[in-house]
This record gives sequence, C-alpha cells and structure tokens, in this order.
Amino acid sequence: MKTTSDKTKIAIFASGSGSNAEAIIRYFNSSADAPGQVALVVTNRADAGVVERARRLGVAVATLTRSELNDAAVMLPLMERHGIEIIALAGFLMMIPPFLIERYDGRMVNIHPSLLPKYGGKGMYGRHVHEAVVGARETETGITIHLVSERYDEGAILLQARVGLSPTDTPADVAAKVHELEHHHYPRLLASLCLRRSH
Ligand code: GRF
Repeated sequence: MKTTSDKTKIAIFASGSGSNAEAIIRYFNSSADAPGQVALVVTNRADAGVVERARRLGVAVATLTRSELNDAAVMLPLMERHGIEIIALAGFLMMIPPFLIERYDGRMVNIHPSLLPKYGGKGMYGRHVHEAVVGARETETGITIHLVSERYDEGAILLQARVGLSPTDTPADVAAKVHELEHHHYPRLLASLCLRRSH
C-alpha cells in the first residue's frame, strides 16, 4: 500500500461544474495503490459546481481572484504547501500565468473537448465547441489531452480519443459523449504521468 507521502500530488484547476474533477478525485481515491492523489482544487469562482463536489469528496479548495492567480508570491507558495507536482486543467477559464507554466513545464496538462487542432483556439470552450461540431455535421468528435504551453491549445498532444456522432445528435448529446470519454481517459492519463514521476 502506498502511504500518502509516496503519492504524486495533483492540483485540478476548474471553473465549472467539475465533473472531470470529480471523476479524477474518485479514480485516485478508489485504490490505496493509486500512484497519485488530488490534493487541491483551484477555482476562480466560489459558486462553481466544482467547489461543492470537491468539498463533498474531502479535497481542499482554493478560490482565487485573477490578481492572486497572476501573483507568483501567492501561487508558488500555495502549490508548495500542498506539495503539488502535477497540474491538471479541467474547464479552467482563466489564462495561466507564464511563471506557472514554466514552473510546471512538462507537468501541466489540459483537456480539450474536441480533436485538436479542430475546434480549438479563442472562444472554443464548453458548449461552443459542441455547437460548432454539430453545425459542421461532423461524423465524429473526441477529446485531446495536451501539455500546456504558453500558446494554450498548442502544447504537445499526449492523448486523443474519438467517438462517432449520429446526424441527430444535438450539442447536448455530443457533450454527453465527450464527457464519457473525458471521465474515462483523463484520470488514467494522469495516473500514467504520476507513475513516470515516481520512477
Ligand atoms: C470539459 O468538457 C473539458 O474538456 C473542458 O471543459 C469541460 C469541463 O467540464 N475543457 P466539467 O466542469 O469537468 O464537467
């Protein structure tokens, strides 16, 4: 059995409902031998669903203003206090400051709800992505998990997974299919990053 101190500590940054955060927390909590543990959820919105989910699951939450997020003297000690080695972005809607990207170079990942480079870039988040996919009559969509570089959606791709669409799928149907993929793959990809760190 791994003790808490053996486990790679993960911080999840999220601004929304937090279904990915919940899937990741549950995945790592489900086995004593899991190589990692979610030690902190960071959000910019005190009323986001992710706050309630994290609290219910017993994970510490830090709610930060934009200026706190952009302040190295706030962020770096916060990450250090929780022993954070990996940062997972899951629907976090603020720009990550360069000092944090640099500090977590190769250890910060984002999940995007499309097959990048399709439907990436400015304004392409949440339902906007799924509406565009339906509007273009795509026959498939998927998810992309990538490293975070200073050009947001352009870091090295670590994993893509796809799902077929039917012509009658609405944006909400597409979102549900994509969430299913995300909840399966994101925790597992993070586990493989944790294992790489402990070897
Ligand atoms: C996910 O679809 C993720 O790909 C995107 O934001 C959404 C967050 O959903 N970046 P949730 O808050 O985890 O339910």
